[in-house]
Amino acid sequence: MKREPTNHNVILIGFMGSGKTTLGQELAPRLDFAFIDTDNLVVSQAGKPIPKIFADHGEEHFRDLESRALSSLIQESSKVIATGGGIVLRPENRALLRKIGFTVWLDASEDTIFDRVSRNTERPLLHTDNQRETIARLLTQRRPLYQESADLMVPTNDLDLGEIIHGIADSARVFFSQSGNAAT
Ligand code: S3P
Repeated sequence: MKREPTNHNVILIGFMGSGKTTLGQELAPRLDFAFIDTDNLVVSQAGKPIPKIFADHGEEHFRDLESRALSSLIQESSKVIATGGGIVLRPENRALLRKIGFTVWLDASEDTIFDRVSRNTERPLLHTDNQRETIARLLTQRRPLYQESADLMVPTNDLDLGEIIHGIADSARVFFSQSGNAAT
């Protein structure tokens, strides 16, 4: 696919529980990049944890902080950036992702996601009576948006973590060697 020049960052997108943070923390040293997590940027900006941001101010406010956190990364380079699962919801964020770096969609099945997230209470969108139904609905809504934003899709259900990291690092190096660098 023809692609405009991009900064030399790797951005991990995908649904909650797809492995963005775990994988990002291991991928970063492999590329000699630093690791950034947009959820952490939002939490430090707000001075409170994500469930409290949602409870005090609602989802739209969280999305505003998330968009601001993403925009703040426009000049970055040599970073692996893990993003929140809803970062693709706003069109302006999707455009930014393509400018900021090589965007990798970590996909996982509904069953895998449910297994990974069901014991964790840190995700306000999953505080529902029927968590499974919520996951299915949000996945249906978001998969086309992840697909639209991604340079590479990687299934994370069964593959070994080491293999996934190796594959992404190789693809990123090829991508950066072929694309220009927007941050000149
Ligand atoms: C969200 C995902 C979370 C966090 C917030 C909203 C979402 O991040 O940003 O709870 O809308 O999918 P993770 O994908 O890292 O869990």
